[in-house]
Amino acid sequence: MLNFDFYNPTNIIFGKGQVAQLSNLVPKGARILITYGGNSAKSSGTLKEVQDALKDYEVMLFGGIEPNPRFETLIKAVEVIKNNNLDFILAVGGGSVIDGTKFIAAAYYADGDPWGIVASFGQSVRKALPYGAILTLPATGSEMNNGGVITRASDNTKLPMMNRLLYPRFSILDPTKSYTLPTKQLANGVVDAYVHVIEQYLTYPVNAHVQDRFSEGILQTLIEIGPAVINNPKDYELQANLMWCATMALNGLIGAGVPHDWATHMLGHEITALHGLDHAQTLAIVLPSMLQHRKKRKRDKLLQYARRVWNINHEDEEKTIDEAIEKTRNFFTSLGVKTSLSEYQLGPEIIEPILTQLEEHHMTKLGEHNDVTPDVCRKILQLSM
Ligand code: NZQ
Ligand code: ZN
Repeated sequence: MLNFDFYNPTNIIFGKGQVAQLSNLVPKGARILITYGGNSAKSSGTLKEVQDALKDYEVMLFGGIEPNPRFETLIKAVEVIKNNNLDFILAVGGGSVIDGTKFIAAAYYADGDPWGIVASFGQSVRKALPYGAILTLPATGSEMNNGGVITRASDNTKLPMMNRLLYPRFSILDPTKSYTLPTKQLANGVVDAYVHVIEQYLTYPVNAHVQDRFSEGILQTLIEIGPAVINNPKDYELQANLMWCATMALNGLIGAGVPHDWATHMLGHEITALHGLDHAQTLAIVLPSMLQHRKKRKRDKLLQYARRVWNINHEDEEKTIDEAIEKTRNFFTSLGVKTSLSEYQLGPEIIEPILTQLEEHHMTKLGEHNDVTPDVCRKILQLSM
């Protein structure tokens, strides 16, 4: 096992009706900005429930945070906080609203151009406003981690940031809040959580037995409940299990003491930035080709994945690996998520501009061995057609 430093201070309050706990979680006398996305927080009634739970506080609203949250929008929220002397933020939404709130919390204290926070991948953050979250979409794990992904629309840049100061103080995970999710978003959530586990598990063995077994448990649970939750979005137990899987997939626990990959994510971010596909749609396209192209270096873990997660164990190891990759692709397809660029009417002409973006964003040595160069990405994208 590799050395590690595990830190996660987020208080998780899980279950039905937990929004009522808000007044026990937000500091007394806090002046709050509630951040949310488009209309879903309103139409689902969650926003009203939150406002009711905070009736003894001074509260202002900031809506309109878009999927793939934009720098240009988020800096307007910083102004609202400054102009009104607010001192606490409450995010109500999915990964985009929570990520955007992380940026707002940090940008409030930024010296100079707040884009510097993202350009430094979060390393320039020195202080952040406290914030909490009400999760409405299980997918990203943002509710219990210190990362965010921010887009600058003016130049199609989508970059990750991370900093220890960016964990939520608390997150309320009420699985009934995802009953209103459209099928597409539920499927995206399953795929995103699945790929988060893969990015931390499917690298090379380091004898991290408990991390491996946790990861395999999350993957198998997602395989088991993914299609079911899409067909039964109002089934509490299914939603509860999906929500906890998604949180556990990216809260640092399974990633402690093991190598990480993240090449699928970084390549996917560029596809979203240039072509607007949802985050998880890009992952479902890139991951199968990524595994296929890099199967020599990932051989041991691919075999373990095939045997333990999919129960495939042919004498021919090559066949075992190929079948596991095929099963992965079919799993995404079974959720209704497409696995090739051409299904989105994107052709080979998109490849070179993506590679140029990767270079511009210093994403030239990706993966657990730092060997996923733009040349390798070209081949992976060709396989993803
Ligand atoms: O904007 P509204 O109207 O709220 O609608 C949203 C949005 O259109 C809707 N939605 C959310 N909750 C709903 C709902 N609709 C009905 N009922 C509900 N309960 O869903 C749509 C998508 O929301 P979004 O927040 O964008 O989705 P997701 O949670 O998948 O977040 C994606 C973003 O997170 C980043 C992605 O790159 C992307 O920008 N990621 C963040 C990570 C992190 N912080 O650790 C890791 C991930 O790898 C990912 O990169
Ligand atoms: Zn992701």
